Amino acid sequence: MSKPLRKVVFPVAGLGTRFLPATKVVAKEMLPVLDKPLIQYAVDEAVDAGADTLIFVTNRYKHAIADYFDKAYELESKLQEKGKAELLALVQGTLPRNVRAIFVTQPEALGLGHAVLCAKPVVGDEPFGVVLPDDLIWNGPGKGALRQMAELADAQQAGVIAVEEVPHDETDKYGIVDATPIDERSALIRSMVEKPKPADAPSNLAVVGRYVLPGRIFQLLEQTTPGAGGEIQLTDAIDALLREQGKVLAHRFEGIRFDCGNKAGLVRATMHMAMQDPKLAPTVRAFLEQL
Ligand code: UTP
Repeated sequence: MSKPLRKVVFPVAGLGTRFLPATKVVAKEMLPVLDKPLIQYAVDEAVDAGADTLIFVTNRYKHAIADYFDKAYELESKLQEKGKAELLALVQGTLPRNVRAIFVTQPEALGLGHAVLCAKPVVGDEPFGVVLPDDLIWNGPGKGALRQMAELADAQQAGVIAVEEVPHDETDKYGIVDATPIDERSALIRSMVEKPKPADAPSNLAVVGRYVLPGRIFQLLEQTTPGAGGEIQLTDAIDALLREQGKVLAHRFEGIRFDCGNKAGLVRATMHMAMQDPKLAPTVRAFLEQL
């Protein structure tokens, strides 16, 4: 990989069944953690990593995501008239001016790998990031997870996958990597296993929702046959990349991850963010004590 990261893909075409009935009409990625939807945290992380082209892979029910990043003429002029400068800045700041948003559709939810493949015509043959917005990764004022990974990908000229240590008895919920450490946070992946039983797991390093991949992955995705659940799995194509290039890295990012694809994770993220907010923290703490 010879170019820095400019493009980031957000696969947001899943059905979000774990949040039904809300997700009948509200895209999972629009669920808020305090006052920001999940997709905003994901976009902020991509912008922090240097991206100027954001590609959203959506479906026909998810207009709200495009609307959210669009100009809100009526609201903006009302806020302007009333002199609400701070609120206006919030409304206008969802996407920085130098960053463009491109929307492509995934006609059918055929899996994460298939969703990423839908972005091929926009990404072309260059390294790109993939961010799953339901994994909210928070690193306070420090470098975002994707930026840490983009720097590593550039320095090592290799694809990078975010991993996190998970409890040993939970390996069967994740893709697990077998990897040789190269430094405190990075490792050379030897192989990947999808959802191994704890007894068969080669480690407790689980793949989470951040990737930096070369354009080559698209050809490998095209050759990938549907795997578990009839879906085209991104992990299968990364496995093929590993066999072909011999070098894909796992990165234990700095930061805390909340799996907001399930209710407990969304609640944890909300509580964590509330406790970071000096105005909210005392109220939340008092309420928890009362509970
Ligand atoms: P999930 O496994 O969380 O599935 O997808 P989901 O449909 O979003 O949610 P549940 O499990 O039904 O509650 C992981 C990521 O991959 C995207 C999802 O939008 C999510 O960001 N995805 C998954 C697609 O874009 N297309 C697909 O076909 C499948």
